[in-house]
Amino acid sequence: MKVKNAMGIALTAMLGISLLAGCGEKPAATETGAEVNGEQVAKIGYIGFLSGGGAAYGEAQKKGLELALEELNETNKGNLKIELLIEDSAGKKESAINAANKLINQDNVVAVIGPTLSGEMFAAGPIANDAETPIFGISNTAEGINDIGEYVFRNSLPESIAVPKAIEAAVNKFNIKKVAVIYCKNDDFSVSGFKTMKATAEKMNLEILGEETVSTGDVDFSAQLTKIKASNPDAILVSTLYKEGSLIVKKARELGLNVPIIGGNGFNNPQVVEIAGEAAEGLVVATPFSPEKQDENVQNFVKAFEAKYGKKPDQFAAQAYDGLYIIAQSLLKTGNADDRNALRDELAKLADFNGVSGKLSFDEKRNPVAVPVVVTIKDGKFVPFE
Ligand code: ALA
Repeated sequence: MKVKNAMGIALTAMLGISLLAGCGEKPAATETGAEVNGEQVAKIGYIGFLSGGGAAYGEAQKKGLELALEELNETNKGNLKIELLIEDSAGKKESAINAANKLINQDNVVAVIGPTLSGEMFAAGPIANDAETPIFGISNTAEGINDIGEYVFRNSLPESIAVPKAIEAAVNKFNIKKVAVIYCKNDDFSVSGFKTMKATAEKMNLEILGEETVSTGDVDFSAQLTKIKASNPDAILVSTLYKEGSLIVKKARELGLNVPIIGGNGFNNPQVVEIAGEAAEGLVVATPFSPEKQDENVQNFVKAFEAKYGKKPDQFAAQAYDGLYIIAQSLLKTGNADDRNALRDELAKLADFNGVSGKLSFDEKRNPVAVPVVVTIKDGKFVPFE
């Protein structure tokens, strides 16, 4: 049996295991996954930043997940049905913990996708890990995510892989020798990105002129950027989420700081262009996904996404889409829609998954092995940085 997704990719050959094969032995309905009329039902939770200052991340993820859900349920009709249970954590650690507890202990999901922020994953990941429930990060890019435990996975490329690529590309093109760094001090992802930026700059023998900090929710960055301007850098490295980052970019240009700006994963969202406008032009960032990539899978996904939502997907939508496909593929391989341990073991074996955000395998610590591309904003769009 061969299962295909809407892009025509063979998902799995089932390896001789069919979900239907075990039907007779299983009860008609279980508390975790249910079996209805011979079709197994997998409950999968999603915890997203769906309201508040970073809601564009969660909205993009929800769209990517819902598109994948529609396609997967159509493709696997009569075999596997996925139910997606959505929780809004609003970017807050406490809410992410509550959502994880609810999904795992009350809703009995077989796996959790998310939460959106690395800080939320550091808070909610241990809940899932202790409950031996796979938790799958689709946007967590800080260092140390997988150290939480063996039930924790992610297809989101760590800053430690993406950020050096962006810095190297910009340094080579613009002959950068001295940089200033600005980052959000109370966000785990931003702090991790800052550490990677600093380590990369040191490794490349760039002079670091200064390190400025901001906090989530800040809107006025004049003081920090005035200091940075006075230090006369060749480039600015920014590690924040999109809202603060976009306002930093905008203010920098207003102050006449017209040097290249290199950002981390927080900038991989079209909201940057919405908020910063023309000031976003030239921003350099690395990403595993570009909707402009001339690749059949990517273009089929972009077309399906545009048809459903009237706009192009961003990296957050793409990794969410891939994330649900990876879990569905692994569930199909286990032949069981509600076995958390079997799912974990199958996920750990992932190799050469051909997703819209690139080819993906996991290393021995379940970190993604993938190659990012460097992009820049031109005429309001992310395009390859050349
Ligand atoms: N990449 C961001 C994080 O890890 C969204 O928090």
